This record gives sequence, structure tokens and C-alpha cells, in this order.
Amino acid sequence: MKNIQSYVNQHKDRFINELIELLKIPSVSADSAYQKEVLKTADVIKASLEKAGCDHVEICKTEGFPIVYGEKIIDKNLPTILVYGHYDVQPADPVNLWTSPPFEPVIKNTELHPEGAIFARGACDDKGQMYMHVKAMEFMTATNQLPCNVKFMIEGEEEVGSVNLSKFVKTHQEKLKNDVILISDTGMISKDTPSITTGLRGISYVEVEVTGPNRDLHSGLYGGAVANPINILAKMIASLHDANNHITIPGFYDNVENLSDEERAQMAKAPFSLENYKKALDIEDVYGEKGYTTNERNSIRPTLDVNGIWGGYTGEGAKTVIASKAYAKISMRLVPNQDWEEITQLFKKHFESIAPKGVTVNVKPHHGGQGYVTPIDNIGYQAASKAYRDSFGKEPIPQRSGGSIPIVALFEQELKSKTILMGFGLDSDAIHSPNEHFGIWNYLKGIETIPLFYHYFTELSK
Ligand code: BES
Ligand code: ZN
Repeated sequence: MKNIQSYVNQHKDRFINELIELLKIPSVSADSAYQKEVLKTADVIKASLEKAGCDHVEICKTEGFPIVYGEKIIDKNLPTILVYGHYDVQPADPVNLWTSPPFEPVIKNTELHPEGAIFARGACDDKGQMYMHVKAMEFMTATNQLPCNVKFMIEGEEEVGSVNLSKFVKTHQEKLKNDVILISDTGMISKDTPSITTGLRGISYVEVEVTGPNRDLHSGLYGGAVANPINILAKMIASLHDANNHITIPGFYDNVENLSDEERAQMAKAPFSLENYKKALDIEDVYGEKGYTTNERNSIRPTLDVNGIWGGYTGEGAKTVIASKAYAKISMRLVPNQDWEEITQLFKKHFESIAPKGVTVNVKPHHGGQGYVTPIDNIGYQAASKAYRDSFGKEPIPQRSGGSIPIVALFEQELKSKTILMGFGLDSDAIHSPNEHFGIWNYLKGIETIPLFYHYFTELSK
């Protein structure tokens, strides 16, 4: 690939400004109040793919938010790369914890990003990372260096479980036919330790409702005499972990893959400082399943976490009340071989079984997806490795991540191709949190590295 660095250098201000414009649109898929903005974002992505040199771009309607599909087929005998990304973002709340408004992007310097980072919801996850691919495409077509065919599939429902994309993939296998899938929606170890994500966790997401008396009650007149749904819910949730922080749902660990000592030793070689980890989060100590390291707990082990809990009076001042209902949203991160639908059923059965008399429990499954592990002995991984070696001057480290991109396992099942996860974000970029940001250095480095993947993948396919 000739002139990639000079092209990026010459156009970097425009690349940054275009991303900033994209980040101004609040494409929150979870909240129906933003429906118009999500749809508008799809149109903006369509236009950007056309500008970047795709020959054919369309907006594919679904029962939910549309999928933007674009392609440039230069020769049927050449390999085809399918790029996947998402244009939807997580809700921005709690908005008051942002130092600048989430949809008014600004560039600020941080300790890890002295070159500046763009602060906005979606800056890293995934608008910034997805847009690197659009700009890499622009570079390759503008300089006549696109070495193979390319298809883009950018969806608007990743943050809410990709349910409609699953249907689309199952019914459009020919359209989506490819030799490798390329995604930038993960992270890397650090700016001087590039890594390629080789595993994602699966997920099962449920909502629970505990109902006690048929109406809210005076906590003096009735307190102590009836089951308080909030107290009960807290007790039930607490019982889901034992003293060693193992999950107590019967059958939960049945299919969990146990890594060999050798694999664990290999994992432990990745650079990691527990001290810095604690410092960055301002915690005295880490917490988790006995017998596993922090990096194992957040990647190769399954977990259960409450994501939200509510009920009763939470407004200003005090109100003495026993609420009729209490609620929680719970996610379980799963490892490969744990089937998310089976785990959802195990959770439901167990949670219903531990409810005491005096309350009723309703478990509502939300969404889920399987985990994914990719081997490194394939040309996709090798091409990515060579691309990083060229742009970072260092061999990347394979690393399993704790996050989930549920569609990846389905891609393998339906499209029979491997996914290569070239993420350029850092853990400190605060994805899903207030003050999400994406380093400008990371953004430009991504744009620089992606065309090299195209080059090496085409070469290695010969
Ligand atoms: N980009 C993330 C996933 C991710 C982040 C993987 C960092 C690895 C490293 C993605 O957008 C995401 O947040 N996915 C959701 C999926 C869920 C809504 C089904 C997640 O992991 O919570
Ligand atoms: Zn994402």
C-alpha cells in the first residue's frame, strides 16, 4: 500500500471533522425517543459509503432499524472482505456525569491521549471505529489500490441485541457471501502493545419483576408483616453468588470450557498491571470468582451482573412506603459452549424456584447471543498480524475479550466464514460510560492499518 501515511496526514482534519458530524446525531437504539435520529444516521452512513467509492449502496429495511449495505466488486475471482460495524450507540445517561454534552463532540487531551481524543457517545463504540473502515475504503479507491472486493454491512441495533440483523443474515446468504469478515468494535491492550481479539463472550439478558402486595403500602402499618418485594429481590439477587463468587444457578457451569494450564499460562504473559488497573478505577482491590486472575475473570469465565435495579420511592426526600413491585435487569456473560437460550431457561427456572411465598416472580428474557473464539492459524489472522506489524512495528498479541458482539457467532454459523476483530479502542475509553472518547492517534492508526489487512489478505489468498 503506497502513500497511506501521507494520505492520512493530508486528510486527517477532514477525517476528524466528518466523524465529529456523525457523532452529533444521537443514534440511541434502545430509546424510542431517538428513532428519527437513528434513521437519519443510516442515511448519513449511506452517503459516506457512496463517497468512499462503493458502487452500490442501499438501505435495507428491517422490522427495526435499517441495515446499510454497500459494496464494490472489482473482480469475482478476487477475495471478498465483509466489513461489519454498527451506527447505533448506547444511551448517554447519566448525562450529568459527562464533562461535556454526549452529543456535542469535543477534542480534549488526556494522559493516555496526549494527541487529543474525541469525547462523545459512540466515539469509540462504534461510530469512530466503524468510520475508520469508511475512510480506509476512501483511501484505497482514491489511490486506485483496492486489492479485492469489499462489502459493508453497518447495522443500527447492535446495542440492543441485533435481532433483526440475525434474520437478515439468515435470509441473505448469497448477498453476504465473503471470504473473511472484518470488524473493529473491540479494543487493544495499549497504544504500544497492539492485540487482536480472538474471543468474545456470549450474553443472556433478562429482566425480572417481583410482585408482593397488590398495592403500595404504608411501611409503618404493614412493614414487618408482608414480604417487601425490594428486600426479597435484593436477597434473591445476593443468593445468585456463593462465598467464592461462583454462580449458584444449577447447571450454569455444565458446558463451560476449562482452559488448560498451558493456555492460562499463555494468557498470563500479556502485559497487565493490577496496580494500574486498580488505580484507574480508584478501587482498593479487585473482586471476583475465586481461583481466577482479573484477566481470566473478565474474559474466559462466565459472569452474572445486575445492570439496573429499581422500585419504590427514589425521589427527593423520604417517603415511607413498601412498594408493590421491584425490578432488575440482569446480564450473564457467557463463554463458548454455553448456549444462551439454555442459560436463560436455567436462570428463569432457578429464579422462580427461590422466590418465597408472599411474592410472585416474572422473568422476561430480553436478548442474547453465543460467544465466539477464533483460531489464529488462518490467513485472516495472519493478514491482520502482518498489518499490525507494519503499522505498529510490533507483532500483535492474540487476546480474548469479555465483551459481546452476538452476531459474530451467527456469522460463522450462517456464512461459514471467520471473523477478524481488529479493535483500536482502549479499555480506558469509557465505552457505555459517561465521557466515552476515542483517541485521535487510535483513529488514524486504524485507518492506516486496515488497508494493509486488505493487501495481505489478498496476497495470502493467492
Ligand atoms: N463494542 C462492544 C463490544 C465489545 C467492546 C467487545 C469491547 C469487546 C471489547 C459492543 O458494541 C457491545 O457493547 N455489545 C454489547 C452487546 C449486547 C448489547 C448484546 C455488550 O457487550 O454489552
Ligand atoms: Zn460496539
